[in-house]
Amino acid sequence: MRENPDYNDLYYQNTTVHSQIIDIVTARAVSLGEFPVPIDWEAFFGNPHPVEIEIGSGKGRFLLEASKRHPTVNYIGIERAQKYVALTQERFEKHIRHFGVDRASGTFSNVRLAWTDANYFLTRYVPTGSVQAYHIYFPDPWPKKRQRKRRIFRNQDFLSALTRTLNPNRGRLYIATDYEEYFQEIQERLSGLSLLHPVATDASPDQDIATNFEMKYVLEGREIHRSVYERCSS
Ligand SMILES: C[S@@+](CC[C@H](N)C(=O)[O-])C[C@H]1O[C@@H](n2cnc3c(N)ncnc32)[C@H](O)[C@@H]1O
Repeated sequence: MRENPDYNDLYYQNTTVHSQIIDIVTARAVSLGEFPVPIDWEAFFGNPHPVEIEIGSGKGRFLLEASKRHPTVNYIGIERAQKYVALTQERFEKHIRHFGVDRASGTFSNVRLAWTDANYFLTRYVPTGSVQAYHIYFPDPWPKKRQRKRRIFRNQDFLSALTRTLNPNRGRLYIATDYEEYFQEIQERLSGLSLLHPVATDASPDQDIATNFEMKYVLEGREIHRSVYERCSS
């Protein structure tokens, strides 16, 4: 371990200790360390449906609406802040209390919340070529110059894991941010990855599902920048 770990290293160390996978329907939390490395999605979800991962799922608005809309897609929301993990659980609980769980369609049996660091989870637990889509909405922009090194898209291990784990048969990466300068940087960094290429459309089929940050920024009149990347086989 380095003597003076930087901010992301500290997060990494803390989250690897308490990391958990939470089943939304049963609220059962299991320590991440109890899962095999890598995780076998089919055994994990009990079905062979495609897997989509939201990184930095915040208060869980996208996760809830998308997983309800697509019951035959398995979703994982990765969030490292405990406060947001708790708020996401509350959001789902309220929804389930109000609308019930539709046992027939299996509503929310397709969702797991990973309270952990995304870089740790991707590099260690996500099998190669196993993710049909990543959703990264409003990643922390770390606007101060001295903090920009914390940006997730600056992390080479993260970029490698993202590329490795996307399905080579057109796995997709959906990105949105209000932060123009970071948006440009993300595009520059992704253009350096030979296995990812930008898709002409900037539309996600679920673009109408606004995240919490998006709702806030749209109200403030900020412009939202989006891009979509696709994984190619070679
Ligand atoms: C600006 S918020 C956006 C939240 C949500 N996507 C939205 O649009 O409402 C960024 C979120 O990413 C989470 N986050 C940042 N880095 C992360 C990492 N390495 N692993 C997991 N979550 C992370 C933060 O805790 C925060 O909740």
